[in-house]
Amino acid sequence: MITMNDTQIVAETGNRIPEPGGAFNTVENIIYGRRSVRFYEKNKQVPEYIIRRIIEAGRFAPSAGNGQPWKFIVVQDQEMIKEMEEDVIKKLKLIMRFAWYLGSWTKHKEWVAKSLMRFFPNLFHPVPFGAMRLIVDGKLGLWHGAPTVIILLADKRSPGDPSLDTGIAGQNMVLTAHSYGLGTCWVSFMTPLKMYARWRKRLGIRYPYKLVTSIAIGYPRGGPDGNVSRETQAIDWFGANGTFKIVY
Ligand SMILES: Cc1cc2nc3c(=O)[nH]c(=O)nc-3n(C[C@H](O)[C@H](O)[C@H](O)COP(=O)(O)O)c2cc1C
Repeated sequence: MITMNDTQIVAETGNRIPEPGGAFNTVENIIYGRRSVRFYEKNKQVPEYIIRRIIEAGRFAPSAGNGQPWKFIVVQDQEMIKEMEEDVIKKLKLIMRFAWYLGSWTKHKEWVAKSLMRFFPNLFHPVPFGAMRLIVDGKLGLWHGAPTVIILLADKRSPGDPSLDTGIAGQNMVLTAHSYGLGTCWVSFMTPLKMYARWRKRLGIRYPYKLVTSIAIGYPRGGPDGNVSRETQAIDWFGANGTFKIVY
């Protein structure tokens, strides 16, 4: 439990605006150094006090109206992780078969694909669909063998956007875990778990809670896989006195 008061927090941060082109500070190093980890040390569990400390960083996230709409579920039971993984894969197979059936049932495959992408733009996006194929074929693990899984639920009754608040809390946790040298990976392919009544019951995925996503945590084995590039998006900049520019 954090006991720092506001004065201490201000003293900690202070006025440390970097010079133009100045070196990254600790927070920036943590942000830029984090990568999704998909290989974990087997049989090396993260101690409870560390997980609690990571969750504490999530609890201190900002939220709309200070609604704090998150609920965290820690799973360190390897049997339970395996069971959830097997059940998710069954549903992913079903989703893939459904898409394949729709595609093969008509000559207008392209039209079907476009319609699916239009009505379910997130689920039938080509990138997750490719990854789904790998998971179903056993070439990519769901939680990548991580010994700890934190499942994130959001309270639908909260003001603003409870899923967004929960995501912000999750990123606080991911960055804190990385600062301890732990590996993490956000895992949203697990959401078909909510299609099972018994998992909804066991995990408490019922009103007012909805399932948002999950985070895998463990000791990384080797480095992260490959380089993930970042696009440079144009930034529209409305400056002082009605000026406008586009920067990158
Ligand atoms: C909300 C969310 C869900 C994600 N779901 C998965 C997933 O189910 N499986 C997976 O391996 N990676 C998943 N990722 C990780 C992304 O693939 C990864 O963050 C992205 O490729 C950028 O790579 P980096 O995290 O190494 O910078 C997810 C990331 C986010 C933010």
